[in-house]
Amino acid sequence: MENSSVPFFSWVIFGLLLTLGSNLAPQAEAARAFFVFGDSLVDNGNNNYLATTARADAWPYGIDYPTHRATGRFSNGLNIPDLISEKIGSEPTLPYLSPELKGDKLLIGANFASAGIGILNDTGVQFINIIRIYKQLDYFQQYQQRVSQLIGPEQTQRLVNEALVLMTLGGNDFVNNYYLVPYSARSRQFALPDYVVYIISEYRKILLRLYDLGARRVLVTGTGPLGCVPAELAQHSRAGECAVELQRAAALFNPQLVQMLEGLNNQLGSHVFIAANAYEMHMDWVTNPQAFGFVTSKVACCGQGPYNGIGLCTVASNLCPNRDVYAFWDPFHPSERANRLIVQNIMTGSSKYMSPMNLSTIMELDSRV
Ligand SMILES: *[C@@H]1O[C@H](CO)[C@@H](O)[C@H](O)[C@H]1NC(C)=O
Ligand SMILES: *[C@@H]1O[C@H](CO)[C@@H](O)[C@H](O)[C@H]1NC(C)=O
Repeated sequence: MENSSVPFFSWVIFGLLLTLGSNLAPQAEAARAFFVFGDSLVDNGNNNYLATTARADAWPYGIDYPTHRATGRFSNGLNIPDLISEKIGSEPTLPYLSPELKGDKLLIGANFASAGIGILNDTGVQFINIIRIYKQLDYFQQYQQRVSQLIGPEQTQRLVNEALVLMTLGGNDFVNNYYLVPYSARSRQFALPDYVVYIISEYRKILLRLYDLGARRVLVTGTGPLGCVPAELAQHSRAGECAVELQRAAALFNPQLVQMLEGLNNQLGSHVFIAANAYEMHMDWVTNPQAFGFVTSKVACCGQGPYNGIGLCTVASNLCPNRDVYAFWDPFHPSERANRLIVQNIMTGSSKYMSPMNLSTIMELDSRV
């Protein structure tokens, strides 16, 4: 009897909350919707449906995913959006192009991201058929029309306004554009500091368009330490130090991004855009991998050549036996375990990592409205 009193009590509370919830807000029990935009760091399979070389739909990608199959995620297992879904108590979002995304599944949200894209339309042209950011936003509008047919325009607007949004862009504008080849068109057009100013001004337009489409809580990640990924160590590093030029790019881009987001929030009179400092989140384990349980942050688990950083991760690549002790899964993308560290920081990180607040604070604030 003693033991059963606690569960009984909590069932009463639970019942009360359900009753209250259903009286006040019909959708209060459902987790908030989640929308994802951006590049390969957050793509969970859209490129599988496109004629492009930027894809992760073959083994050993997905080796540690629950199904042990490749899904299009650029990870050995879960990626950053999956882990954020986990934190907000939701199912992982489906790729927008997936035929499974229909009916009630639409209410979970959707993932519009596409590997290879950037802020600029000319970023990733070598991948041919990818969903550039303005196309992702067009799809978001189309998504809202589809949901409207299901639950009506007012509920749809509410679902979108109350949703959490993740936007991850910018790395490819350096790696797959400005620095893709020596004397690239963009590098002949702009000195690096001017290029950064230009892409930040273009990024601002993209975020305002997202706001116009109804987004009101948007996590915006800066770039990681671009010069420290195994691909750059293999190509542009002298003795295993992070490649200087790409580090300079990240050092210029990230603070200007935070400034631009602050400016937007001031203009909109609300904390719509939340900056996640991916650079600092990575640097912790890049500079001291052992402290985080990694044997290395320089060598990719899957790849070939120096640092396993040359070419793509394929069935013919070297493959490490224990992915949890590698910070990088392939030459560009963190392992699931590194992704978990990043998402933990997004969730509870101090102002060094999240500004003006972390996701746990956002969830607390938004649950009160
Ligand atoms: C990129 O393309 C979109 C439409 O596809 C267009 O609206 C936008 O102006 C383009 N951006 C630049 C910088 O040309
Ligand atoms: C999350 O952010 C809030 C507000 O900035 C802060 O008080 C809190 O300490 C942060 N959480 C953690 C675990 O640091």
